[in-house]
Amino acid sequence: MSTASAEALQAALATVIDPELRRPITELGMVESVSADAAGAVQLAVLLTIAGCPLRDTITNDATEALSRVPGVTSVDVELKVMTSAQREALKEQLRGPGGQRGIPFTKPGSLTKVYAVASGKGGVGKSSVTVNLACALAAQGLRVGIVDADVHGFSVPALMGITQKPTQVDDMILPPVAYGVKVISIGMFVAGNQPVAWRGPMLHRALEQFLTDVYFGDLDALFLDLPPGTGDIAISVAQLLPNAEILVVTTPQAAAADVAERAGTIATQTGQKVAGVIENMSFLEMPDGGRMELFGSGGGAILAERLTAAVGSEVPLLGQIPLDIRLREGGDAGKPVVLAAPETVAARAMETIAEALASRPRGLSGLPLGIQPR
Ligand SMILES: Nc1ncnc2c1ncn2[C@@H]1O[C@H](COP(=O)(O)OP(=O)(O)O)[C@@H](O)[C@H]1O
Ligand SMILES: [Mg+2]
Repeated sequence: MSTASAEALQAALATVIDPELRRPITELGMVESVSADAAGAVQLAVLLTIAGCPLRDTITNDATEALSRVPGVTSVDVELKVMTSAQREALKEQLRGPGGQRGIPFTKPGSLTKVYAVASGKGGVGKSSVTVNLACALAAQGLRVGIVDADVHGFSVPALMGITQKPTQVDDMILPPVAYGVKVISIGMFVAGNQPVAWRGPMLHRALEQFLTDVYFGDLDALFLDLPPGTGDIAISVAQLLPNAEILVVTTPQAAAADVAERAGTIATQTGQKVAGVIENMSFLEMPDGGRMELFGSGGGAILAERLTAAVGSEVPLLGQIPLDIRLREGGDAGKPVVLAAPETVAARAMETIAEALASRPRGLSGLPLGIQPR
């Protein structure tokens, strides 16, 4: 008999995490059979959720590596099979809860996910850059984080996160690609090439609703929505679909920019949403002599926080000021957010500080508004 016991093989496989579902493959019903012969040759049969699963190589490699570490194992042969529809149903039921219940999980009573909608008055102020950096900073701290790229016309999150992989569809359940530990879904993953999306209000609402219901994020500590600029249809849809979403307003220090951002922030007073805070981006440029050049003026973030505090009637803090930094832009272009690519920069540290402030805010239910309807 081989020294590789069935228990040891199972224990090794329990360390293999499905890259999309982020759970051990042994818990997901993906291990059909595993056995070792007298010579230590292991035969493993893995059940994939769908044929042609894009992550089949990752699963094969991870399983082979884990099993090879078991004492007595001399070789590993992995056979990839596909779940039957009954097995897929069982998996979906396991993931979604009894009856494979539908609906938006983040608004269910008892949901502890903090939902942040990142808004701005105008485009180009760094909303998407802030979104991906905050998400990556929180994921690096061990939190479970997701991003919904709700900027349907100007989606940019997949590129900023270096994601080229498409979501995997398991019947009516969509598994989001994961980068740097963050689950990401974007309309950009569903259109061919770089096509513009010319959807109108009702379709946008439907697309967002589908993202929030059909995409399997699992239990999240934080979900970020990267909103399109301004106070358009998507912002209103977010308020309706996720009334517990709190708004993070991004602005530049320019007074005029803060004026426009104020409109995006005060939408919360009409929808009954909370404003979690203001983030000032492009605040200054650090000069070689250590001085600071204020390219876009100064004070916009503080003025905006003050005005929003007055408008919504509760404290809206200025959460941070992020300087201009070439490495922040380069990180975006390279698909690796600056908090991971150049954590020592002042810009990355400012993002980290904001992420810490968000992580230490009270979770979930305490932030839930009392079901106020849009006026
Ligand atoms: N603090 C910063 N320093 C340098 N470049 C920045 C900074 N913030 C944003 N950028 C760059 O400005 C451009 C617009 O940022 P982006 O995050 O796409 O804005 P938005 O989502 O609000 O349209 C991007 O090219 C981005 O790399
Ligand atoms: Mg953007």
